[in-house]
Amino acid sequence: MKKLRIACIGFGTMGGDVHMPFHAKNERVEIVGLCDIRIERCHDMIRDFNLPADTPIFTDYKEMIDTVKPDAVDIATPNKYHSIIACYALERGIHVFCEKPDAINAVEVKKMKDASEAAGKVLMVMRNNRYYGNSKTAKKFLQDGGAGEIYCGRCGWLRRRGLPDRDWFSTKEESGGGPLIDLGVHMIDLSIWLMGNPKPVSVSACTYSKFTDKYPRINMWTKEPIVSKFDVEDLAIGFIRFDNGACLQLEFSWASNIEEEHRFVELRGDKAGIRWNDNGTLDIFTEKNNELVDLHPECVEGHGHHEALQHFVDIVLDGREPDYVPEQGLNMVKILDAIYESARTGHEVLL
Ligand SMILES: NC(=O)c1ccc[n+]([C@@H]2O[C@H](COP(=O)([O-])OP(=O)(O)OC[C@H]3O[C@@H](n4cnc5c(N)ncnc54)[C@H](O)[C@@H]3O)[C@@H](O)[C@H]2O)c1
Repeated sequence: MKKLRIACIGFGTMGGDVHMPFHAKNERVEIVGLCDIRIERCHDMIRDFNLPADTPIFTDYKEMIDTVKPDAVDIATPNKYHSIIACYALERGIHVFCEKPDAINAVEVKKMKDASEAAGKVLMVMRNNRYYGNSKTAKKFLQDGGAGEIYCGRCGWLRRRGLPDRDWFSTKEESGGGPLIDLGVHMIDLSIWLMGNPKPVSVSACTYSKFTDKYPRINMWTKEPIVSKFDVEDLAIGFIRFDNGACLQLEFSWASNIEEEHRFVELRGDKAGIRWNDNGTLDIFTEKNNELVDLHPECVEGHGHHEALQHFVDIVLDGREPDYVPEQGLNMVKILDAIYESARTGHEVLL
């Protein structure tokens, strides 16, 4: 059986708890190298996933790529390094899977996209939300015209108290931003993908940072002082217009005085509206025989992160048609950049 020789980089929450369990049990994947600036995490991976004791380990991704010459790398480092590592790998003819967000800004995403095109190698960025059962069921319903013309929507991920517990998340230079780039990429991508990828034409937004000065506070994960630097927003609110006349409202917070954390996508069409729920269900609101009707369709199976990782393996090994193309990543991060620009200037930004 042909196997994908993959080298993995970054074993924190995502790399260690989500990517590695998938790769380690995947018969079509061979883990040929491990890299983390904290070398002990590489040892942890060998122990936790019963990898061969002589699996090469590194603290420097360049050394790993040049030494083991993998078919692909899987990047799960802080955001700042996504484009740096991805370009290094792509320029050496190596396929790249990378965690979200694509990169810290659109300039960096463009570099990744150009490097992928120049090398003719796959670049896929994590889009786990597209692979949940309710997402796939909604996509089919919308593609089949079940909702008619989708003309507006709302999406969000609001935490009451969920400020990050690692410095890099709240440091603009390393993360690119706060909850907008952390949580927003998930729900904005899901919404735009469900809407059929209309082209964004303008953005208007506000961002706020109201909780950082009162830090530490009650928090989802800990009550201790947890980060030493905080120069990003804790709430972003925005409005996107698309070239087909549709619009999307959005809201993302790490901390807000609201009842409880929730994630949502609501899209309205002229035949029906859909609501994608956090608990994996989907609701459809429509009318039939002069009656208002609420439908709760059974959703197909979906496995989020692992299905996204499997899709990458299938693209590289079997030439499967990619669900994600770098152009979508570039459009998405241009929206994020425009949201920050609009919030900074107080004006609508044309894309
Ligand atoms: N798709 C999702 O649902 C999801 C959820 C959480 C985080 N993420 C993304 O995953 C990425 C990692 O997040 P996390 O929560 O695992 O972070 P983390 O801080 O827990 O882990 C990052 C790991 O990368 C290592 N690292 C840092 N710089 C490195 C470098 N230059 N070379 C090699 N290793 C390096 C760190 O030592 C650490 O082990 C981020 O981009 C984040 O946005 C995605």
